[in-house]
Amino acid sequence: MTSPTADPGRERSESGGLFVAFEGGEGCGKSTQVPLLATWLRERGHQVRTTFEPGEGVLGRAIRSIVLDPANTELSDRAEALLYAADRAQHVASTIGPALSAGQIVITDRYVDSSLAYQSAGRGQPADEIAYLSGWATQGLVPDLTVLLDVPVDVGLARIRGRAAADRLEAEPQAFHERVRQAFLTLAAGDPARYLVVDGRADAKTLAARIAERIEAVLGVERVDSAERS
Ligand code: TYD
Repeated sequence: MTSPTADPGRERSESGGLFVAFEGGEGCGKSTQVPLLATWLRERGHQVRTTFEPGEGVLGRAIRSIVLDPANTELSDRAEALLYAADRAQHVASTIGPALSAGQIVITDRYVDSSLAYQSAGRGQPADEIAYLSGWATQGLVPDLTVLLDVPVDVGLARIRGRAAADRLEAEPQAFHERVRQAFLTLAAGDPARYLVVDGRADAKTLAARIAERIEAVLGVERVDSAERS
């Protein structure tokens, strides 16, 4: 786990925790890959906490029902951004933070980048303001690794069609989702050491192997780091 207010490496070695986020547009395959990675890690003896945004916990569920309900046509863009930030603040305070402090590997399905992609690139809110909101909400907690599952928008939307009725965000037009996709790709391109970008059209097993390979490398580096410090 990385925080700008502390030595991230030291924090990690003390707690042993590792923070991994999965990001991507609609229908990119996160909900398949998160449990596959969790199982792979558990089989290797790691304690893993999987979680998601928006909607973890009682308060998260309440926020989720507001932001995703298509009936809420009057929800303003700023209110939407604040609700996602509030969900994230609660998520970090009550789930992610405690699990990392207990030395667990936390895997979250969506985190800060989703707000940068949807509320900023999608809705048009200034990126620095959305980044500030999320930074404030999370007290600067940044994932050690973000896995971006990239799929062309038409492929992703075709996958989710027919699952359930579209929620407020899914129902946005194709151009909105194109902006979201590009925002994710731009974020990843800006920090290759902290991102893994994979083509979400590959079959689930191939993707899982590619992701596991990168996690293994991250954990390997972590072990070397803590051995050097002890
Ligand atoms: P969800 O049903 O959890 O599914 P998925 O993650 O598979 O898409 O939908 C969450 C929706 O909320 C999704 O359309 C993305 C959107 N979202 C934001 O707009 N901003 C955010 O900060 C987060 C976390 C999600």
